[in-house]
Amino acid sequence: MLRVEANFQLGSLNTLRLECIAERYTLVSTTEELQEAVREARVCSSSINLLGAGSNLILNRYLPGMTIHMGLLGREILEDSADDLVVRLQAGEDWHETVLWTNAEGYFGLENLALIPGSVGAAPVQNIGAYGVEVAQLIERVHVVDSRSGDIWSLTAAECCFSYRNSVFKTSEGKHLIISAVDLRLSKRPVVNTSYPALREAVPDNCETPSDVLEAVIAVRQSKLPDPSLEPNVGSFFKNPIVDRVTAEHLQGEYPDMPQYPVDANTVKLSAAWMIDQLGWRGVQEFGVSVSEKHALVIINKSARYASEVIEFTYKISSAVFQEYGVSLDREPELIGID
Ligand code: EPU
Repeated sequence: MLRVEANFQLGSLNTLRLECIAERYTLVSTTEELQEAVREARVCSSSINLLGAGSNLILNRYLPGMTIHMGLLGREILEDSADDLVVRLQAGEDWHETVLWTNAEGYFGLENLALIPGSVGAAPVQNIGAYGVEVAQLIERVHVVDSRSGDIWSLTAAECCFSYRNSVFKTSEGKHLIISAVDLRLSKRPVVNTSYPALREAVPDNCETPSDVLEAVIAVRQSKLPDPSLEPNVGSFFKNPIVDRVTAEHLQGEYPDMPQYPVDANTVKLSAAWMIDQLGWRGVQEFGVSVSEKHALVIINKSARYASEVIEFTYKISSAVFQEYGVSLDREPELIGID
């Protein structure tokens, strides 16, 4: 039986620790409960908000409609061959615990994605990525519940339309799909990817097992990124902007030290952290919100109560970047609810 609570406080369920009241809230632990919650919301014509670990959300003061907290747990091996295997992970599983578990079992490929805060179900939505690997590279299928009908179906990786920090689940075609489980294809042969410069430096030469990479990624993240459980944050606050090649060349001429990463023949990714840092924002604090001392792309909530304070502060940062570099910064976490 589904337990629905009214006027539920979400302050402890989002890693930015913002105050937010959900009109209605329910925690679901099975696919059937998830479907029941969807049907219940439809009967009342309420909108649906999905809450995972709350590590990529900026919650406004009030969240109308039904907030469904994803609590589906479980791991299951589907296909198992000499070279690789497919593992089904339920959406409510903790991402980092999952990475540790796969590595300990000898299922390789997720090591570079260690310590990313969040749940398994959130990973495909923004196609989480770090140190040269994106989760899209490992996804076989994504299982969903349609929030309009309650129907269950699944998408292939191609149907998820993954790109940098993006997928069909962020678009109007896929926003109504609630991820209930994710199938990943992992290698049983040790594979490592140490192409990312900061990681390359952290992995000792002649010592390149998947466990070494896992350890190095954890060490690099702990040294460069603030821990959300100690300093409330949502990881990178802005995406790295992608610009056309001509714009990138022009910027490189004007700012010779600017890091640039070619995406394809026509587009180049710029470093949002570098631009913010160059403009002197690192460590700056206003409205109870600050730019992390450790990493200029991370915004820390020091004492702000509401999303409006975070938005006001970060708008000043993106305006300053636009004024200097002519480049727009898009927010990475999703802003939901009303002020
Ligand atoms: N940099 C600065 N100042 C800083 C931090 C970085 O100038 O305060 C410069 C670095 O020197 C480097 C460049 O910015 O030249 C890139 O820095 P970093 O390697 O830390 O990567 P990033 O582009 O800032 C992205 C992801 C992170 C991911 C890292 C490592 C995005 C939006 N962010 O950050 O993901 O961990 O690469 O792969 O793509 C997240 O999404 O929440 C996240 C933390």
